[in-house]
Amino acid sequence: PIEETLVLVKPDGVARGLTGAILARIEAKGYALVDIRLVEPDRETLERHYAEHEGKPFYEPLLEFMMSGPSVAIRLAGNRVIEGFRSLAGTTDPTTAAPGTVRGDFGRDWGLKVQQNLVHGSDSPESAARELEIWFG
Ligand code: CMP
Repeated sequence: PIEETLVLVKPDGVARGLTGAILARIEAKGYALVDIRLVEPDRETLERHYAEHEGKPFYEPLLEFMMSGPSVAIRLAGNRVIEGFRSLAGTTDPTTAAPGTVRGDFGRDWGLKVQQNLVHGSDSPESAARELEIWFG
């Protein structure tokens, strides 16, 4: 089925100049950019986006990190794009992410309090609908 998902190139990806390289992989895979914006989310937006992580040890550092600079928000469409983008991104921890994935090829493990893992992708159709509403209205 054709789906839509929310992709974020997080502040580390934008700051390191990897937005183009990440977009090239997304486009090479055949996914369609439906909407794309540079965003500087406020705390309230991030609290909504990361509601499921509230109370976890990395929650506050995660919000601080996400407010440390601009991100690129993408409304992405394609066949099974939710699962497909997460596969393209690789596992959460850049150290163990497979080579060939965004996080495996470009992710660095800085030993920080929060994983600076370059990208976010919605993890289910329900998350995608919820997150697209938050970031694109
Ligand atoms: P993301 O998939 O965007 O959503 C939650 C984020 O929290 C995740 O990417 C990482 O940036 C971060 N994260 C998840 N698990 C951990 C963890 N165990 N330690 C530190 N950061 C984490």
